[in-house]
Amino acid sequence: SANLEPYRPVYHFTPKSGWMNDPNGMVYLDGTYHLFFQHYPDSTVWGPMHWGHAMTNDLTDWEELPIALFPDSLGYIFSGSAVWDAGNSSLLGTDSNPPLVALYTYHDMEGERSGKTDYQSQAVAFSLDKGKTWEKYQGNPVLPNQGIKDFRDPKVLQWVNTEGKKEWIMTLAVMDRIQFYGSENLLNWTLKSEFGQGMGAHGGVWECPDLLPFTLADGTQKWVLLVSINPGGPQKGSATQYFIGQFENGVFTPDDTLIRWLDYGPDNYAGVTWSNLPKDQNRTLFIGWMSNWLYGQAVPTEGWRSSMTIPRELSLFEVNGTLLLKSTPAEELTNLRKRSYQIGSKENGLPSEAFEITASVSDSENFNLFLSNEKGDSLRIFKEGNLLSLDRSKSGITDFHEDFGSVFSAPMSWEATSIRIFVDAHAVEVFVNEGELVLTSLVFPRSPWKKVHLLNGISKATVYDLKK
Ligand code: FRU
Repeated sequence: SANLEPYRPVYHFTPKSGWMNDPNGMVYLDGTYHLFFQHYPDSTVWGPMHWGHAMTNDLTDWEELPIALFPDSLGYIFSGSAVWDAGNSSLLGTDSNPPLVALYTYHDMEGERSGKTDYQSQAVAFSLDKGKTWEKYQGNPVLPNQGIKDFRDPKVLQWVNTEGKKEWIMTLAVMDRIQFYGSENLLNWTLKSEFGQGMGAHGGVWECPDLLPFTLADGTQKWVLLVSINPGGPQKGSATQYFIGQFENGVFTPDDTLIRWLDYGPDNYAGVTWSNLPKDQNRTLFIGWMSNWLYGQAVPTEGWRSSMTIPRELSLFEVNGTLLLKSTPAEELTNLRKRSYQIGSKENGLPSEAFEITASVSDSENFNLFLSNEKGDSLRIFKEGNLLSLDRSKSGITDFHEDFGSVFSAPMSWEATSIRIFVDAHAVEVFVNEGELVLTSLVFPRSPWKKVHLLNGISKATVYDLKK
């Protein structure tokens, strides 16, 4: 079916119009997954930031809602998070109607322009109608600037501290490090510790952190700290690194000094996880901004720019004694599968622009498949030795930025046994071994993909049409 709006995806979230970057305020409540996002409704490039708002009940069908937070005299509304304050610790609601509480960064643009350095601070907004409408707290900012200009992107979680007391922890990006703050009421914050100087990748500023607890199969508790960095990613531009370690008494201690990347593709940035997911599901659900600051404002879409990745479930797995993070497509995505067909020959027709390919890999060190269309564009995914690569150099429109039409490679020192590829109108998300290695990539073919070619190392595959 002809898509009237070129590159508008079928099952990825995109704003109806205007600019979008980071996912914000992801919180689950009463069957609804809320997604807020960095948004400038009046243009398709970055500008005065709002929090746009969307929701889904099934992780595949998104509904965009009215804008939740508008910039005001204190500044633009930068990235942040939201929590369900079930015990009304903030006293912003009542015991019978507790609030959703959002923590976000104010960015005072005039302050920055006039040469000040204290133009970023943390602030609170709350909702008493389950996220429909939001009110800003009168006492903002709740955490004023502490003398470092990059001071942003608060991500809040609740934990039980060593005294057995519930406590809120704020993970904050502060230039080249992470600061952890503690609070009993989401309004008064005390610095607990810092992490990151001399640790990890430092090719750019640290942004959008998230701190995640995991329990391994043997009962061991681990903490993962996500830290996005711009620039300095493995494929140039922006990317997300992570650390694995312990979080005790408000102090994060990594297990080792390894630099780890969440996604080896060029287009997954500023991703964080949903708070308040049902405890019995025991899931860590992630979404990223499916773009890169290198060229995100120049991609060839009209009227809107950017989408989010598909939701992914994060877990830890072990390779040769090293723990790594795995990103598995959320199981709800299988509900999108409509018609399915087996392909075995060398070349096969594709019926739609949104589809999924799954296959087992027979030669871990040497496989190769590609997509092509009627205009002669192609996108190649292949493994040679221990390098998994995605080549989008001939994939269609690439000339809007010199770094877009490249080959992106990732080291994979362990065996590849399966591949799963999600394709939508303007992107491919490649999951090897159900997410042990991931390559997320935007792509702008001049007409929809029409054929999949299996060259070697993969003898047959299943293709699913994906529809809502
Ligand atoms: C990351 C980021 C955040 C900031 C937001 C502004 O992409 O730079 O650090 O809060 O975007 O839109």
